[in-house]
Amino acid sequence: MKPPAPDHSCHVITIDGPAGAGKSTVAGMLAKRLGWFHLDSGSTYRAFAAAVLRRGVSPTDARALAALAGDILVEIREEDGATRVFADGEDVTDFIRTPEVSRASSPVSAVPEVRARLVELQRSIAEGRNTVAEGRDMGTVVFPDAAVKVFLTASPRERARRRVRDFEKQNQIVSEEEVLAEILERDARDSTRAVSPLQPAPDAYILETDHLTPDEVVDRIVAWYVDATL
Ligand code: DC
Repeated sequence: MKPPAPDHSCHVITIDGPAGAGKSTVAGMLAKRLGWFHLDSGSTYRAFAAAVLRRGVSPTDARALAALAGDILVEIREEDGATRVFADGEDVTDFIRTPEVSRASSPVSAVPEVRARLVELQRSIAEGRNTVAEGRDMGTVVFPDAAVKVFLTASPRERARRRVRDFEKQNQIVSEEEVLAEILERDARDSTRAVSPLQPAPDAYILETDHLTPDEVVDRIVAWYVDATL
């Protein structure tokens, strides 16, 4: 799909990387600091997966998913300053964070027809506003003209620790080893899939976050942005 002509009056900063690299925390803090919109593209894949589960379709049935791509309606709405995610008209903001939806969203996101549909949605959400876009292919595919592209990484062990802490905050107890195994499996699938494999854009800044605080990461990105737009 050909991207729309870039709108130079609005800027995009892309933050890509694997699960647990710190994208959500950093993208949220950066958007707040700049007063920009935070587009969590993973939530669109999760919402699609939630609708697939609700409809009783198998998330690994690629042919059924391709047929559903134009049928399932995913929406991101801002309500009272908070971002809510809808699928088929139903608020799935909390449901999309469950382990069930996490598991289902990876095979769902490998289906080209689903990606094409959701990429279109992601671009339309960012149109006309300054956006921090977080995901896997924001810099490579969705916003190739972004002002600054960042690819965050962290060691699998550190990413597993962070994931366990996230689950604990939601009162879900999971084992670090289990989370680590899932991370390695998802990494392999996300980086070897045919469409939009997880990889840094050639012009992305690559940042390893094991020993950096989120504030330090945000400071660096702001400095890169100032440099890029001087
Ligand atoms: O970042 P996340 O865990 O919320 O992403 C959920 C799933 O969607 C994950 O399997 C990766 C996939 N994804 C993707 O393929 N492309 C994106 N831009 C964002 C997420």
